[in-house]
Amino acid sequence: MDYDAEEIAAVFGRAAATYDSVVPFFRRFGARLVELADLRRGDSVLDVGAGRGATLIPAAERVGPSGRVLGVDLSEEMVALLRAEIDQRGLANASVQRMDAEALEVEAGSFDVAASSFVLHLLPRPEAAIAELRRALRPGGRCAASVPTGAGQHWDFLRRLFRDFGPRAIRAMPMPVRPNFDLTPLLASGGFEVLNSVEEQMDFVFPDEQAWWDWAWSHGLRAMLELLSPSDLEELRRLALTEVAALRTSLGIPLVQSAMFMIARKPPLPVSRT
Ligand SMILES: C[S@@+](CC[C@H](N)C(=O)[O-])C[C@H]1O[C@@H](n2cnc3c(N)ncnc32)[C@H](O)[C@@H]1O
Repeated sequence: MDYDAEEIAAVFGRAAATYDSVVPFFRRFGARLVELADLRRGDSVLDVGAGRGATLIPAAERVGPSGRVLGVDLSEEMVALLRAEIDQRGLANASVQRMDAEALEVEAGSFDVAASSFVLHLLPRPEAAIAELRRALRPGGRCAASVPTGAGQHWDFLRRLFRDFGPRAIRAMPMPVRPNFDLTPLLASGGFEVLNSVEEQMDFVFPDEQAWWDWAWSHGLRAMLELLSPSDLEELRRLALTEVAALRTSLGIPLVQSAMFMIARKPPLPVSRT
């Protein structure tokens, strides 16, 4: 199936206003990617699929005033909201532009680090995006990428619900669903040397079922919810919230999510012997 990048970005555009506002989900994964990327003061960083700044904001703080961070995202709404956040925080070393990850309008070799948190698995052609990240990097520059992994209790019931409701969808899913997306072959075939790879799990807690439902609409899961008729959506909501309620502990409703983080290097130029 051919996916349209603009349609995928449009789903995120509709989620942008509440994106990452229910629990700091993407912010925690983005901050961890920045830690693992070992950014240095003065680095120039490209953040591809920057969203609301989960990676861009900690990266801008880390590289300091002598560094710079450019965030790019195909969703106009994400770009506008992130731009407002950059202004509000007074991050003079950060900027954001609307761009397609698969056709970056940046100069070749102009970045020390190219980061992408929770984006590559949902692009129509991730290999094209990796080639673009590589082109944007200077020789010896690093790529820091992460994708969600694992299933766990939480996603198992959702997957089951969507399998049951899938045939009732009113149109085709606008974005690829790749639950076990493997970054290793993607980076290797894109000409990167993997320096470090770690899989980590993070825990989140929702105060109640309504918060979980609000969260479901605030990110990519929304793409699936939008495919259902109002009555099917109501039925799915009821079934999902029953499952979610059964997970409740004294702290609230837990969500466990794991991610694979990879740091890879574009090979440096060979030393010429003359
Ligand atoms: C799951 S969000 C991750 C955002 C951010 N990196 C974070 O961790 O919060 C995916 C982001 O990729 C953006 N996106 C989707 N397709 C894109 C494309 N072809 N080029 C650039 N950005 C894209 C979406 O608009 C959305 O902001």
